[in-house]
Amino acid sequence: MAAFRVGARAVEGGRFQANGGGMASSRLQAPPKNPPNREEVALRGKPRSNHLAAAAKLRRRAGPMPLWRVAVFVSVALNVATLALLLYHYAAPPPPHHHHQHSRLTASSEGSLAAAARREDRTTMAPSTGKPAVTPDSVINLDHGDPTMFEAFWRETGDAAELVIPGWQTMSYFSDVTNICWFLEPELDQQVRRLHRTVGNAAVDGYHVLVGTGSTQLFMAALYALSPAAASAEPISVVSTAPYYSSYPAVTDFLRSGLFRWAGDASSFEGDDYIELVCSPNNPDGTIREAVLASKPGGKTVHDLAYYWPQYTAITKKADHDIMLFTVSKSTGHAGTRIGWALVKDRAIAEKMTKFVELNTIGVSKDSQLRAAKVLAAVSDGYEPSEADARVGARAPRLFDFGRRKMVERWSMLRAAAAASGIFTLPEETSGFCNFTNETAATNPAFAWLRCDREDVDDCASFLRGHKILTRSGAQFGADPRYVRVSMLDRDDAFDIFVRRLSSFKSGEGEADGVSTAIWEHV
Ligand SMILES: Cc1ncc(COP(=O)(O)O)c(C=O)c1O
Repeated sequence: MAAFRVGARAVEGGRFQANGGGMASSRLQAPPKNPPNREEVALRGKPRSNHLAAAAKLRRRAGPMPLWRVAVFVSVALNVATLALLLYHYAAPPPPHHHHQHSRLTASSEGSLAAAARREDRTTMAPSTGKPAVTPDSVINLDHGDPTMFEAFWRETGDAAELVIPGWQTMSYFSDVTNICWFLEPELDQQVRRLHRTVGNAAVDGYHVLVGTGSTQLFMAALYALSPAAASAEPISVVSTAPYYSSYPAVTDFLRSGLFRWAGDASSFEGDDYIELVCSPNNPDGTIREAVLASKPGGKTVHDLAYYWPQYTAITKKADHDIMLFTVSKSTGHAGTRIGWALVKDRAIAEKMTKFVELNTIGVSKDSQLRAAKVLAAVSDGYEPSEADARVGARAPRLFDFGRRKMVERWSMLRAAAAASGIFTLPEETSGFCNFTNETAATNPAFAWLRCDREDVDDCASFLRGHKILTRSGAQFGADPRYVRVSMLDRDDAFDIFVRRLSSFKSGEGEADGVSTAIWEHV
């Protein structure tokens, strides 16, 4: 609207208000090709501008101008101005266009030329891309499970997962005040349920869907909700079978809560009251897990099913545990969107978990929720085409096919490299019948649980760091430091270099060519 306001001021200055005001159409909002600067506008608005000064001179020579001539002059001037603006609109090249299939969110504002022109003028920085590109000599950081492998898939999906959110939308704190989880966007609720029904990996009927800033926040919410309510109670023990996800102890204890505390390996736990964390397939070793303490009455379980998706493992049953955690970080690769969800059976627990998120972050970014919903919808569309796609015979890209193909390829490369090295071993491959694909499928974990068998190496992470490969030590998972966890989800270039480096190790060979530990231990 700024462009129009500028025009209106100039018109007001020239006392042509009535006609100018009537032209507030969206076309007139287009800025002229060389928009006047403020000073020009101010000058043009004053009667001492060149044209008006010339007219005044004429008037002085010829005496007072009759009213009808003033009217004709005004009318011609206005028509010429209108014509110029129209010509500009039709002749000017279109703004760099987004091949967005505009979601229903965009319809209201996207049509305006002013918005398009603003986009054209924009000189924003490109969004961040994560870790820098690598070369054969680079340090390869496979410490974190950063799921950039999936970028290649989403690059090919065109507008299927694109979203534009106008400035006025998603402003309220609230999403659905009738829902227990009042900050959950209904669209995300719906797409979460739809995807689970499509894949068949978790029951959703009779469950409350809760959203969190990543499933990490919902993990904390679950600990809060499952802790004893009595102020006098001792902190409840939080356990998980080793090797366990390294964030479990870190997140449990970092605020030294009086409600819960980390108590280590579930398989050696002896108390009666506990919260058992069951991660399946397990981070770091990819095993399929069940609760080991499930029979005790004072025990509660949280199932972290971040990797229970067809690209990683066979979907053998519809999980129906009391609390199940999922995340877009590992299902679709959108870790930066920071959206996780919980499926919770019990209403009171769902309310307490919601309370945690309310007190912690007053809800969860709606923008991220809408993006996650769009992404999940695109995944489901690949397997059950929308009516529109079906009508035109279009087929949306299939995420799980891509993911499985990639993981199979990477695992076979890694196994070959480990075998060639002669000093690294990997867990045995397992398989199962997948109800989603209707075929037997091997497990392709998101992490490799790599063991260094060289006798002189008792700290595999340090050994690999010496070869510019960053991994996470087994010690951080409650296991032997001869193991490391290696991310299998990085970009192709990093993965390829890693595999090449690994296969070049030989027993007795491979002294560090030099990354100082001090530099990298804080990365
Ligand atoms: C087992 C498991 N749960 C949860 C998470 C974290 O998920 P989010 O990014 O949604 O917080 C991870 C991330 O690596 C994970 O491995």
